[in-house]
Amino acid sequence: MLQGLEHASIGSEPVHDFLPLNGTAHIEFYVGNAKQAAHFYRTAFGMSLIAYRGPESGTRDRTSYAIEQGKIRFVLTSALRPDHPIAAQVNLHGDGVHDIALSVDDARSAWNEATKRGARSVREPETMSDEYGEVQSASIALYGDTIHTFIARNAYHGPFLPGFVATPQPDSLADPTGLTHIDHTVANVGLGEMNKWVDFYRDVLGFRQYQHFDDKEISTEYSALMSKVMAGGNDRVKFPINEPAKGKKKSQIEEYLDFYHGPGVQHIAMATDDIIKTISQLRSRGVEFLRVPGTYYDELQGRVGRIDEPVDRLRQLGILVDRDDEGYMLQIFTKPVEDRPTLFFEIIQRKGSRSFGKGNFKALFEAIEREQALRGNL
Ligand code: FE2
Repeated sequence: MLQGLEHASIGSEPVHDFLPLNGTAHIEFYVGNAKQAAHFYRTAFGMSLIAYRGPESGTRDRTSYAIEQGKIRFVLTSALRPDHPIAAQVNLHGDGVHDIALSVDDARSAWNEATKRGARSVREPETMSDEYGEVQSASIALYGDTIHTFIARNAYHGPFLPGFVATPQPDSLADPTGLTHIDHTVANVGLGEMNKWVDFYRDVLGFRQYQHFDDKEISTEYSALMSKVMAGGNDRVKFPINEPAKGKKKSQIEEYLDFYHGPGVQHIAMATDDIIKTISQLRSRGVEFLRVPGTYYDELQGRVGRIDEPVDRLRQLGILVDRDDEGYMLQIFTKPVEDRPTLFFEIIQRKGSRSFGKGNFKALFEAIEREQALRGNL
C-alpha cells in the first residue's frame, strides 16, 4: 500500500544523484488563445503577468505570457500560424500542458545523463542569451506530446527567459490568492502504460517510487484507476502517474484519454498555507470546484479526528480532509478548466501529511462520475 518512503541510499552509502533537480522551473501550456488564457489565470487564480514574448519583442511565430504566484510559474503559448506545430497540438489535444520544465544547475549534463539512459531528445542543449545573461536548456520527450525541458538559469537576471520582455509591474489585474508552489503534477497514461513510465522516471531520470495505490483502493462501483507516485530532486518534484483500471463503466482516466487524444497531464496541485482563505477567494472569482455530498461532512470528524479548521467552513467551501500517521491534509479539485474534460487543478494544504488524499478518493470519484454522466461519458 504505502511504499517507498525509504531514501535513495544503500546502507550508509549515498547513491550518486546523476540528475540533480532543483524543482519545477515552470509549466508551459499550449493553448488556442494565450492572451485570454492568461487573463483567466490572472483574474481567477490571481497570478501576475511578469513577461511576454511575441511579434512586438521579435518572436514572429508565437506569443507567450509568463505568469507567476509564489514559486509557481506558468507560460501560456499560442501559435500565430495555422501550419505551426503548436497549432497542430492544440487542434489535437485542446488546451493543455506541453512542458514540465525542471530547474537544474547544468542542462547539458542533465540531457546527457537522461539521453544516455534512453530518453528521446526533443531539443539538444543550447544557450540562449540577451542583455540579462544566459540560459542553458535542453528537452526530452515524455508521454504523448508532453516534454521535460531542463533549464539552467543561474546566470540570468532578466524578467523570465531570453526573448521575453518585462511587463508593467505590479500587474493591475492580479490579486494573489495565497498559492505558494506546485505540490505535484499528475499524468494520465494508457492502459498498461503506468509501469513503463514508472520505470522511465526511475531508470532514466533517477527518481524513486514515493507511494502507490492499486485499483482496489481507488475504485467506485463504476470506474477505477491505478496510480504510482514518482519523486525526484530530493522530493522537490512529485509526479503521480495514473492508468485506467477495469470498472463497469468508462473511468475518468479513459474519458481524459479520449478527449485529450492520448496521454498527458491530468492535474496540477498548487499548495497554499490557508486553504479556507484561498478557496473563498477562488470561488468568489468564479473558479468551479467539484462538490461531494453533505454526508461526507457528517462523517468527517469521525474519520479524521480533531482538525484546526471549522467543519462548517469546509462544508460550505467543499474542502476535503484526509489523515495518515504523519498528520493531515486538506484538498479540493476544480472542474476541468477547458471545454474538454481534460486538465484540472487541485489546491492543497498539508499539515504534516505527505499523502495524496487516499481517504477522499471514493467521495471524489463519485463526484467526478456525476459530472461525467452529465457529459454523457459514463
Ligand atoms: Fe493530486
